Amino acid sequence: MSKQLPDLREQTVSVLDNLRKTSYLPWWYFRSRILNQKRPLQTVLFVTDYCNLKCKHCMEEGHHGSRMKPYEEIRKELEYSYKRGSRFIDFEGGEPTLWRDSEGRVLNDLYRLAKEVGFWSCTLTTNGQRPFGDTLADSVWVSVDGYGKYHDLIRGEGTFEKLDKNIRESGHPALSIAMAVNNRNYKSVGELIQYAKDNPAIQQIAFNFHTPFPGTEELMMDWELRNKVIDRIIAYKKKGYPVMNSVSGLRTMKKRGFPKDCWIANYILIDGTKLPNCPGSVLGACDDCGFSMAGEMYSVLRMKPDTILAGMRLRM
Ligand SMILES: C[S@@+](CC[C@H](N)C(=O)[O-])C[C@H]1O[C@@H](n2cnc3c(N)ncnc32)[C@H](O)[C@@H]1O
Repeated sequence: MSKQLPDLREQTVSVLDNLRKTSYLPWWYFRSRILNQKRPLQTVLFVTDYCNLKCKHCMEEGHHGSRMKPYEEIRKELEYSYKRGSRFIDFEGGEPTLWRDSEGRVLNDLYRLAKEVGFWSCTLTTNGQRPFGDTLADSVWVSVDGYGKYHDLIRGEGTFEKLDKNIRESGHPALSIAMAVNNRNYKSVGELIQYAKDNPAIQQIAFNFHTPFPGTEELMMDWELRNKVIDRIIAYKKKGYPVMNSVSGLRTMKKRGFPKDCWIANYILIDGTKLPNCPGSVLGACDDCGFSMAGEMYSVLRMKPDTILAGMRLRM
């Protein structure tokens, strides 16, 4: 009996917490769409620009190696984003698993901090070169840019083998992979979808398409090829393969220059610059943007049911 009471209390707290969270989303939607008060729901917070790889499709700034953002600065940025309305946090880099500070803190301390501030869910985006089985992130995205040699072509010899081992050994219950498709690796899309399906450690696979950031323009697929690749991904999805992108979101990604609703995520860069939307807008890359989040956001705000479902499955 004495054990049952705390159990009941815990269950009630958890039900109330879920209710509070579920009602926040329609309120956020109402505020953004009807009252036109655009507020972020997600924050992409850069914690370091140190990286252990030098990928062909990444801008020089992505592996500059100039800064580990201090803990207290990150706390202020989390508080700022939470106050603006954000409830989901993605620590980004560089390679975020390299983050540490002089007090001996590591990335897991930032996940604890984010929860303390009030964030509901934390994401790790990693290149998977270091074991990440002990991460406190609620979901993990490993960047895999093709199967085997295709991935290595973009990220360096032996990098696929390492991430494959770390994925199999991680034991994380919410692990997915993300591929950035470009004109060097697009032939590997089918093989990588099959790899995701056959690997019990992987929940799903998401696709982004190369965005021609300064210095990486030569990897951009022409639009005809990009659209053919998107059609191939949609066909896999319709056959039941575990593709995270929604069909509506993917179809949107076929239209060059579609309107962007990228204020759904705010960005805080490595130098502390606070942007109300994706840095791509500052770099003039929006028309050729390949980040599928743009297509998903566009479709969510236009109430496409498949995109809303995909988003809920991902986030809740
Ligand atoms: C910059 S990385 C940083 C996090 C981590 N080091 C990693 O490799 O996942 C974040 C994501 O952006 C993707 N990315 C980088 N440059 C890109 C580009 N020009 N176009 C599309 N995706 C890109 C990467 O493939 C990766 O999935």
